[in-house]
Amino acid sequence: MTQTAPKAAPDIAPDIDWATLGFSYIRTDLRYLSHWKDGAWDAGTLTEDNVLHIAEGSTAIHYGQQCFEGLKAYRCKDGTVNVFRPDQNAARMRRSCRRVLMPEISDEQFIDAVTQVVRANERFIPPYGTGGSLYLRPFVIGVGDNIGVRTAPEFIFGVFCVPVGPYFKGGLTPQNFLVSGYDRAAPHGTGAAKVGGNYAASLMPGQQAKDTVIDGHHFADALYLDPETHTKIEEVGAANFFAVTRDGRFVTPKSPSILESITKYSLLWLAEHRLNMLVEEGDVFIDALDGYTEAGACGTAAVITPIGGIQNGDTFHVFHSETEAGPVTRRLYDELVGIQYGDVTAPDGWIVKV
Ligand SMILES: Cc1ncc(COP(=O)(O)O)c(C=O)c1O
Repeated sequence: MTQTAPKAAPDIAPDIDWATLGFSYIRTDLRYLSHWKDGAWDAGTLTEDNVLHIAEGSTAIHYGQQCFEGLKAYRCKDGTVNVFRPDQNAARMRRSCRRVLMPEISDEQFIDAVTQVVRANERFIPPYGTGGSLYLRPFVIGVGDNIGVRTAPEFIFGVFCVPVGPYFKGGLTPQNFLVSGYDRAAPHGTGAAKVGGNYAASLMPGQQAKDTVIDGHHFADALYLDPETHTKIEEVGAANFFAVTRDGRFVTPKSPSILESITKYSLLWLAEHRLNMLVEEGDVFIDALDGYTEAGACGTAAVITPIGGIQNGDTFHVFHSETEAGPVTRRLYDELVGIQYGDVTAPDGWIVKV
């Protein structure tokens, strides 16, 4: 009897047009799943099945007991693969798990799961130079038979991935944002945790912003003020906010209801150590925007999005320009993206090679 060797997977996914890749779901080859039962996570396995079969009473479905993460793997010029700061996502996921009473995942298990998924789906990593990357989506959900408001008897930790295109196809394009009267999180609520409820709360204000046109200005998303006083900028859609003061300081808001962005903390470090700027986490009052020459939104998906203008009631405030990124924004972008794709030396510990 002759045996046929299993066919080696092609290096490049055959039916993806890297040039037109956006941010949409694409089913990749394998995903990681680990189950928690009787006090411990199991070793976890890779599976082809992209559908979860969970109990109808799962707390994730009824009480929003879940959290998730988002990070990326990048193909470098030399063909190797960089994952950007996965230890930071692991730490944030532990904070989210604690906030909604779910068992935590160790750094080791989180990074091992991410690494396995990247390796198993290598053919989906966009080639260097296309501006694309492999977006990784870890999550933890409460599952198992249950009906009352309480923590779940069992949990699932999963990681899947999707190849995504560059956020800006035509370079760094400024976007406008509309100040919302709604809050994505409560003053002492779950704003600092990456839990689904915050995102459910943001869907309607986000849609309202996208549907609004004022004096010919369109808006990419809602901008949220602090839920306690509605006077200070907190978040820009699903991204953090930063600005550059007239005297050249890099400023970003600090508040217990903001999701601590890994990109934002990376920019704070880069502004201080690579651009030699003074940096601070502090209040950015919505009625004092004249003090800033540039502003931007930052995050894993948004990378750095220059903010053209902010509409607050009847006032439309323009920062640097409605059509072009400012000089500091541009330098920070080049530094960050250069590190992610391996073209610029990374600070110690920022890159995990897969
Ligand atoms: C609400 C919110 N703020 C900020 C961010 C940016 O965080 P990060 O830079 O870690 O992707 C995200 C995305 O994860 C987000 O969903």
